[in-house]
Amino acid sequence: MGIFSAFSKRDPFEFASPLLARLEPDTIRKIIIWLLKDKVWKKQRQSDEKVLSTTVWSRKFPNPIGIAAGFDASGTVIDEFIRIGFGFGEIGTITLEPDKITKRAYKLRKDEAIIYQTSGFNNIGSKKASMLLAKRRGRKGVVGVSIGENVFNVESIDEAERDIVGEYDAVIRAVAPFADYVVINISNSYMESLAEFQLKESLDELLRRLRLAVNIATPIKTPPLLLKMSSDINNEGKRITAEMLLKHKFDGLIVGGSTGTRPETLVSKRKDEPGGLCGKPIMEKTTQLLREMYKHTNGQIPIIGVGGITSGADAYEKIRAGASLVQIYTSVIIHGPMVIKKIKKELAELLKADGYKSVSEAVGADINKGS
Ligand SMILES: Cc1cc2nc3c(=O)[nH]c(=O)nc-3n(C[C@H](O)[C@H](O)[C@H](O)COP(=O)(O)O)c2cc1C
Repeated sequence: MGIFSAFSKRDPFEFASPLLARLEPDTIRKIIIWLLKDKVWKKQRQSDEKVLSTTVWSRKFPNPIGIAAGFDASGTVIDEFIRIGFGFGEIGTITLEPDKITKRAYKLRKDEAIIYQTSGFNNIGSKKASMLLAKRRGRKGVVGVSIGENVFNVESIDEAERDIVGEYDAVIRAVAPFADYVVINISNSYMESLAEFQLKESLDELLRRLRLAVNIATPIKTPPLLLKMSSDINNEGKRITAEMLLKHKFDGLIVGGSTGTRPETLVSKRKDEPGGLCGKPIMEKTTQLLREMYKHTNGQIPIIGVGGITSGADAYEKIRAGASLVQIYTSVIIHGPMVIKKIKKELAELLKADGYKSVSEAVGADINKGS
């Protein structure tokens, strides 16, 4: 029995919240992972309400709310997230070689937000990740893998000689056979080397080669291939991304990552720290982008909506704006992992109140009505 469960019958996060409130996001994330390993959150006893179930890429999801990439980058407790009630998980972002980068994250408590600074992805590398994924083969629950490019470990390579697409290709070969879906993560607007992929030719070539790489790596059971896009993309970039996703037959899109912009509503002292903003204040921006991408792709590509979800109403808004699935990160840091219970309960009530029998019936409802 874990320390927290011995002392408290309540949600251990709630029990410890006065202490946790003072800690920085990455420390809280590590504590949550440690507590999940220790199984202090009891087994999820009730199954999800039927109205929350949905089918995407011919896979059944008990509910549409997943844990976003970056939280459990190594996938050590991804099955625990699913056990306590998340509808699916995403590990990564994984790079070819392990990356250990300096990462700073600040909590903007009053804004229910995080600002994080990073130049790359802290992760165990594709070799170790594929071994971990191989171990969970056959287990219940959909687990996607986000992949990106190395930033650390590549200083010795001449940038001109570097074959970035070749690196992606190698990561795909390592992880795709074990992934329920694969995400090409170009969402981090702070990575200069990725910015060029926002240009049409680069995106065309990148997506063409990665589509091919996934097909070759997994000829029999090809996992759905997704792109995670930046939240700060301009209008031309939005149109180009949609065009290229359709052209190269991508199976999904994730909208989106953190933003470099700062809404005027922010009140926390640390609001002007440099970095990417995540959490409640980015709900409106990322949902507007989702709406636009749903329209640009004619609702033909399932979209995972992420950014600023803290309630069932937020999840519902993203679903009505075109999201087939949604993900959360910052609200898990601010409110603890059992925020999933509240979001699911509220979402189920909203769906039922509007007469929907399942999540899929509500996808894009606001767009279809021409609003
Ligand atoms: C500290 C931190 C690390 C993150 N790391 C990753 C990552 O490795 N890969 C990725 O695709 N997104 C990463 N994200 C972005 C989240 O997956 C998500 O897109 C973003 O936080 C918006 O969702 P939220 O408002 O619910 O937090 C990270 C976010 C934070 C705050």
